[in-house]
Amino acid sequence: MTFAPSALMNDGRTIPLIGFGLWQVPDDVAIDATLAALQAGYRHLDTAAVYENERGVGTAIARSGLPRDEIFVTTKVWNTEHGYDQTLAAMDRSLSLLGLDYVDLYLVHWPSPATGDFVQTWRAVLALHEQGKTRSVGVSNFHAHHLERIIDEFGVVPVLDQIELHPNLQQRPLRSFNAAHGILTEAWSPLASGELLADPTIGAIASKHQVSAAQVMIRWHLQLGHVVLPKSVTPERIRQNIDVFGFTLDAQDLAAIAAMDKGQRTGPNPDEFM
Ligand code: A2P
Repeated sequence: MTFAPSALMNDGRTIPLIGFGLWQVPDDVAIDATLAALQAGYRHLDTAAVYENERGVGTAIARSGLPRDEIFVTTKVWNTEHGYDQTLAAMDRSLSLLGLDYVDLYLVHWPSPATGDFVQTWRAVLALHEQGKTRSVGVSNFHAHHLERIIDEFGVVPVLDQIELHPNLQQRPLRSFNAAHGILTEAWSPLASGELLADPTIGAIASKHQVSAAQVMIRWHLQLGHVVLPKSVTPERIRQNIDVFGFTLDAQDLAAIAAMDKGQRTGPNPDEFM
């Protein structure tokens, strides 16, 4: 079993640097996959209302027998629930499905400029923090201008911004903005949704260190200071993806990966999504 170290967030709490990503994991599959992750040593689970697997994740947490305070659980409010009252209600639904009375981190899933007012959504997230329903507050898929808007409005800086991030999309300006504001950068689709698993540059680095391409990319995220959320439903891969503390990428490896940036998303641009 491998445990990932934790990072300190700007609210004084800590977050395990490797989280188990649950996007695209069906509810029934989520039970076994989450149990496999907990057995492999993951102590950070990343779900969302829109993933429709909160019930499976909650079932796995209960079945694991682990104390609640040893698992860091994140969920997110979906785009169609933007607004103050809707967000409060969305949190209650998520907690009920998870079978929990609090989550460790609640995120605004997308700024979603077309469907709602993320400023009012954020105000509700702050209220949920006051109520003890979430320990920490953050956002996902926010550009710097979205972050500036909520920070200016309420003076509360999100603990992290969860964004699409991998060697094809390195997001340097946003990562710098986050670092300058004490916001952790968290990577979704850290393996470019699997698209980079056969990349020759990554493959050469993997051969050199006798590890897999996935392990190279996860290690790259960690060495850049990201919180990283690899997703897999395959037990052997789940174990492999947290077993990344026995090697270090050197300056040459990091330079080769830095040169891969194409600004290429696998998902939508947050300014244009819903
Ligand atoms: P699977 O879930 O079938 O095991 P990302 O985290 O960037 O979204 O990428 C997820 C994709 O990468 C999934 O298709 C997943 O497959 C695959 N994947 C995750 N970890 C590994 C690994 N260690 N080796 C090969 N493929 C992996």
